[in-house]
Amino acid sequence: MQTRIGIIGGSGLYQLDSLENPEWLSVTSPWGVPSDQILTGVLQGVAMAFLPRHGRGHVHAPSDVPYRANIDALKRLGVTDVISVSACGSFREDLAPGDFLIVDQFIDRTVGRDASFFGSGCVAHVSLAHPTCPRLSAACADAARAAGVTVHEGGTYLAMEGPQFSTLAESRLYREVWGCDVIGMTNMPEAKLAREAELCYASVAMVTDYDCWHPDHAEVDVAQVIATLGANAAHARALVAGLPARLGADRAPCPHGCDRALEHAIMTAPDR
Ligand code: ADE
Repeated sequence: MQTRIGIIGGSGLYQLDSLENPEWLSVTSPWGVPSDQILTGVLQGVAMAFLPRHGRGHVHAPSDVPYRANIDALKRLGVTDVISVSACGSFREDLAPGDFLIVDQFIDRTVGRDASFFGSGCVAHVSLAHPTCPRLSAACADAARAAGVTVHEGGTYLAMEGPQFSTLAESRLYREVWGCDVIGMTNMPEAKLAREAELCYASVAMVTDYDCWHPDHAEVDVAQVIATLGANAAHARALVAGLPARLGADRAPCPHGCDRALEHAIMTAPDR
């Protein structure tokens, strides 16, 4: 099977340079209109698709991102591997602004977002025990390291609703009681939907701030996030440039079964 790498770009990453045959495509989906057109092209012989999560110009707030349309549109374009790139706050002293964390767990505190492709008519329950793809995550970590980024492998991402940042009590709860490593507003329900769409999914969380728990750092504000975004985006581009060589143009079945997630998940009788 042919690889097509899908990149969902977060705050600061609104397009990819250096694609051959670049083309912004409008993709329609029964799940609505995606965040923006999708930039397709080829990088080092591997098909690519890039979707800016917030739209060019940053017009979709985290609660309003059309997550189902985005994942469905990538699937329709033949994407096999989705790399989510997003800004996050850090709950760990050693996870400093500018560092990248390759997330491997989530706690979902979002509310009211459309979080499944399934429902009445067709009921399915996919496993989310391991919500990211270890093969794809390892490739991202390796590419980030080769690009000179300080990268940490494995950690828990607290997905909050926003758009306001957390209270101090929430920040302490997530850090001290729940043991979370980073916080952001966009990886859920994206990761859940990628699993339902049988796509390999990896999350590259780019640290911009220490949220509001750190006694020696001012509480997060947008200026702080933006100040770190530029350097982070350059590093994210370098990471992406390292992916084609690591993933290859041809793809074997996922050794972790991401591409077969629905095999034992559908409850509704097929002949109904
Ligand atoms: N995105 C970047 N920094 C964040 C923070 N501290 N909380 C939630 N989302 C973020």
